[in-house]
Amino acid sequence: MTQPLGIFTRFEALSVDEKQIVDLAVGGAATSARHSLCFKSDFPVGAGILAVNEKGETRVFGGGNVENDWFPPTICAERTAATRAAFEGYKQFRIVSVFCRKFPGGSPCGLCRQLLVQFGRDATLLNIVDHERNVRKALVGDLLPGASAASMAFADLSGDEQKLVRRVNGLKQRAHVPYSKRPRAALFICENEKGVQRVFAGVSDDNASYGGSALAETVAMRSARTAGFARNVRLVVTVDDPTSVNPVEGECLQVLREFGADAPIMLVGPDRSVVHARLDELLPDSFGPEAL
Ligand code: THU
Repeated sequence: MTQPLGIFTRFEALSVDEKQIVDLAVGGAATSARHSLCFKSDFPVGAGILAVNEKGETRVFGGGNVENDWFPPTICAERTAATRAAFEGYKQFRIVSVFCRKFPGGSPCGLCRQLLVQFGRDATLLNIVDHERNVRKALVGDLLPGASAASMAFADLSGDEQKLVRRVNGLKQRAHVPYSKRPRAALFICENEKGVQRVFAGVSDDNASYGGSALAETVAMRSARTAGFARNVRLVVTVDDPTSVNPVEGECLQVLREFGADAPIMLVGPDRSVVHARLDELLPDSFGPEAL
């Protein structure tokens, strides 16, 4: 199963700033609970951020999860704290801490990871692992790394893999991307209860209100779920650069996580080169169903 990220560090061994940010996360979870903001899950989460603005001034921000009757508008603690900081002009994050009150040791979800890396992959990440406020210390960038395998040329792929690459590349032209201008396509290969295999396709579908956009991978995964196919899953997806860090959006990885912790992912580059990756590698120490 998935290895925890970072190095175990006792609260007493943290710097003054780090201690303050850890306390903010603990307080954030308490505030979310106090205001009944996590009324759907009863799963209070808190986050703390120390960030720097353009003048080099430093400020701290806290946050807790804010839920909605309809799940998608729910904002995780990390994103609440991050948007508070960014909105005040503090866009360079230095320290980020996270605390799940009922599941200490939890780690940010894929959507939060995607937002956090935008404001500093070099920031220190403190995942609080117990009620004594001890942490695991890593970097925010560790939350969305790249794949480790070498890139393979199209000619060196198996016949089946070449077919998938051709098919997924051909689909890209159907993407609706007037705003992002980043056409993407995905194939989700999976089995139903009877062991029958099928391939589900998806393309990116932008929305004028950006947050309402659907990513190719999630479209494919959700079609599969609708048809009752959710076993032995495998994702094939076009990406800008299969060898870069964070080749697939955190949101897609989080949706894939619901099908299991370690699905194979085939990253297809614009030149039809391929990198074979796994979910646990691209979304290490993931937040999954076991937490709730
Ligand atoms: N949650 C967070 O606040 N942060 C995470 O990284 C994972 C999940 C919240 C969202 C929702 O309110 C509840 O926990 C259950 O998912």
